[in-house]
Amino acid sequence: MIYVPLKHLKPGMILARDVTCGSCFFSLLVAGQKLSSSIIAKLAKNNIQGVYIQSQFCGDLEVTEVVDSELKQTVITELKHFYNDYASHATISLSSIKAISNTVNDLVNHILSKEECLINIVDIKDYDTYTYTHSMYVCILCILIGIQQCYPKSTLTELGICGLLHDIGKLDVPLEIINKKSVLTNEEFKVMQSHPDKAVVRLSPCHQISSAVLKGILTHHEKYNGTGYPQGLMGKNIPLYGRITALADVYDALTSQRSYRKAWSSSDAIEYMMGCADTHFDFELLQSFLKTVAIYPVGTVVELSNGFIAVVIQNSAQNILRPKIRLLLPQEHTGEEIDLADTNNEYLNVTIKGVADDEMAFPEILFV
Ligand SMILES: [Fe+2]
Repeated sequence: MIYVPLKHLKPGMILARDVTCGSCFFSLLVAGQKLSSSIIAKLAKNNIQGVYIQSQFCGDLEVTEVVDSELKQTVITELKHFYNDYASHATISLSSIKAISNTVNDLVNHILSKEECLINIVDIKDYDTYTYTHSMYVCILCILIGIQQCYPKSTLTELGICGLLHDIGKLDVPLEIINKKSVLTNEEFKVMQSHPDKAVVRLSPCHQISSAVLKGILTHHEKYNGTGYPQGLMGKNIPLYGRITALADVYDALTSQRSYRKAWSSSDAIEYMMGCADTHFDFELLQSFLKTVAIYPVGTVVELSNGFIAVVIQNSAQNILRPKIRLLLPQEHTGEEIDLADTNNEYLNVTIKGVADDEMAFPEILFV
């Protein structure tokens, strides 16, 4: 299968993966469906930026997810319950906290049981349900960073809870500010920036939520150089969970589609974040983060610095910049497989220039 951006979809192409939509992860379209003009129009209407398509040339490629759709759905359901409880009661019930802890615990066990802890898929996120899906992905990324840091299971669960609840204080911010399309006034911005404090005030009486989790929620908008909020903390003075949640939060926000902009590609988001090492992010943790997401997910069509076109066939957490690829063009090299991480090959000085996007012509060979 290969990932094809919306602009390059044509009637007759066959879906290789279900297209899920919304926070319930229900299938909008199922694998095996032949695309028609009206289906492509439906995808565009649902703001789907691209889908996985069957290709004889890449029929052997399997894209596996770190977290199965069913478990994602459970996480979202529990999170919605927790949000409802938070919104409608002054104090959070013990049963809600237990339910969310158990769910995150299941998530940690699930991720630990997987051989490859690398997000290797272009996940389609629906911006109408952004709050829940974003929180879930931040939770997953926090756990993955924790695994790279070799933290014990209890820490992974705490990190996951911190990621899942990091933005819950936004429920205490007026909706007209949250949903405002135009630029916020200084006063409105201050109210928005109060969401970490608000969450901690509300969650502090719950003794089942550890102080480390509360500190993480409070400091997820702090920046390593001291220019963040709410306290302007610097460097390692920012609590560990806050520094980790900041990485997960920024990456997922950039790679999610919003009503006002398209989603960034994984490679663009990572390039931006690498430029923020030691200003926004803790460099050591950033290095761990870089082992949790594939810059070029399997099935992505890429252009190389020598002008060749290839498809990514395998990633390794050890060297996410240089995956294994299968050449598509030029024709005399079609089908050759190159491990860019292998230092003993003639492609040593060849780099990946970029991923195929709306502007790049898609090689016809993929669809014959
Ligand atoms: Fe936030």
